[in-house]
Amino acid sequence: MKNIIIYIVIILMIVLAILLALREDTKKEDKRLETLNYINKNISFFNYDYIDRYVSYHLKNKKLPLKRVITEVNIGLDNDYYQNTKPAPNKQTPKVLVNKYHYLKEDYIPENLTEVYEGYSKPGMYLVDKAAEAYKKMAEDIRKEGMKIRVISSYRSYQYQKKLYERYERQDGKKKADKYSARPGFSEHQTGLVIDIDNEVLSYEDFGKTKEFEWMKKNAHKYGFILRYPEKKEFITGYTYEAWHYRYVGKKIATHIKKHNITFDEYCAMENNKTK
Ligand code: DAL
Ligand code: ZN
Repeated sequence: MKNIIIYIVIILMIVLAILLALREDTKKEDKRLETLNYINKNISFFNYDYIDRYVSYHLKNKKLPLKRVITEVNIGLDNDYYQNTKPAPNKQTPKVLVNKYHYLKEDYIPENLTEVYEGYSKPGMYLVDKAAEAYKKMAEDIRKEGMKIRVISSYRSYQYQKKLYERYERQDGKKKADKYSARPGFSEHQTGLVIDIDNEVLSYEDFGKTKEFEWMKKNAHKYGFILRYPEKKEFITGYTYEAWHYRYVGKKIATHIKKHNITFDEYCAMENNKTK
């Protein structure tokens, strides 16, 4: 009799454990549905192919809001820089995305390259025609206010970037060089949509201290340019702050990026993964 009671108690305990486990599963499933529902309603740039990556990244960064988790995974930040790389989307347009996860091939040369007007540039600088026109207008307008900007670097071929990067690598080592120089194929300069500028007086590295920089901060977007590697966004762009490096994206995108204080990487993470 005593044994029968013990068996019954054990069986009841097992049944209870199964019921509790089932309840736990239902809770988890409810949570999953609730999360998916939230995403569906509130986040328009959710990529269904990345679900496992979102979950892993969220588990590693528990305090990060869901919207940030999705943005950062869309950028590729759940992988180390230069891992899981893909061809740059939107080539031959001002929307082309080149960063540490998106590359241009060795033979990629932008169409419609034109020499930048020498009055506002070192000689032999080339840009895609639209970017060159927008830059000329910007340089003219800043001059009207008694200031000067000058292009010191613009389109760079794959081969040129390779030499540059290898020189920096020899000088400073790979880890340090990676913080300020792009590996060949991964430099935005290869798009023909980028300018490095100075004010003809100070070194470009001191551009952030100039009144021309203050003007650029306020006005560059009106001409379609953005500060591509801002301060405090290094973990997103993968590069230390560059006050002298501007990227042409067109007026509409530049204005949106400035208004929302985001990087081009974040903009593309949202825009290129739109579900509705
Ligand atoms: N300095 C920038 C990141 C480049 O090398 O393209
Ligand atoms: Zn640059």
